[in-house]
Amino acid sequence: MSYSIAITGKGGTGKTTIAALIVAALTRSGRRPVLAVDADPNACLDAALGVKVQNTVGRVREDARMLSSQHPDVSKRELLELKISESLVEGEDFDLIAMGRPEGPGGYCYANNVLREVLKEISENYPYVVIDNEAGLENLSRRIVRRVDALLVVGEPSRNGIATLRRIQALAEEMNIEYGKLIVVINRIYEMKDAFYSLMKEIGADEIILLPHDDEIRIWNEEGRSFFSIPENNAVYRKIHDAIVMPMA
Ligand SMILES: Nc1ncnc2c1ncn2[C@@H]1O[C@H](COP(=O)(O)OP(=O)(O)O)[C@@H](O)[C@H]1O
Ligand SMILES: [Mg+2]
Repeated sequence: MSYSIAITGKGGTGKTTIAALIVAALTRSGRRPVLAVDADPNACLDAALGVKVQNTVGRVREDARMLSSQHPDVSKRELLELKISESLVEGEDFDLIAMGRPEGPGGYCYANNVLREVLKEISENYPYVVIDNEAGLENLSRRIVRRVDALLVVGEPSRNGIATLRRIQALAEEMNIEYGKLIVVINRIYEMKDAFYSLMKEIGADEIILLPHDDEIRIWNEEGRSFFSIPENNAVYRKIHDAIVMPMA
């Protein structure tokens, strides 16, 4: 059984950054191999992990369809599985799979079902699975997974961000996804306010983690550097390592 964590939240809140830092902290603490899943069609988790995605699952689905007309003897499903396994990017202590967009005809529904099943099968080879999701809570639909061990929701420390976080449990229910624990992260905090602490008691999340704004993190992103090279004493990295990664089973 693998331990899975899905990172969700609005666009620009820091999902990809946090996902990459979790992968780095997992592998550095010997919890490997990790399967990193880029479930955001517009994301760049690959750059954050210092690798390059050549093929997304959405794209190889098209290849599999073409192949299947040439090889009517092989099942469509087998071809798709083969192609999907070819789209895995191998890193040092992790592999990355990018979902992309489901392309071409054939209906999203069939594709989504197959993707989800194949992802589930692939996941079984990894003790840890980290999923970077598309922006918007509603998008961590059952498209990608049905159940995760930890659902991590990232929000910003603005009035709006906090208002969203207050509704987090209701939103998590609406997402219709099962989770073992709910972790709320308030990211890019410039100044600690009492409101953040009182929020902790109010919203009934299993944990609330406060991450500071950090210029080193900003620079790493701006320069497209891999988060595997972030110094171990970086404040955001340390917090993620101690509060999110260490408690993982
Ligand atoms: N703790 C932080 N300190 C400083 N900048 C941050 C922090 N977290 C995220 N950022 C910046 O915020 C921007 C959005 O982050 P990103 O991880 O791409 O968000 P998302 O994946 O949710 O769209 C990036 O430019 C990144 O450098
Ligand atoms: Mg992102």
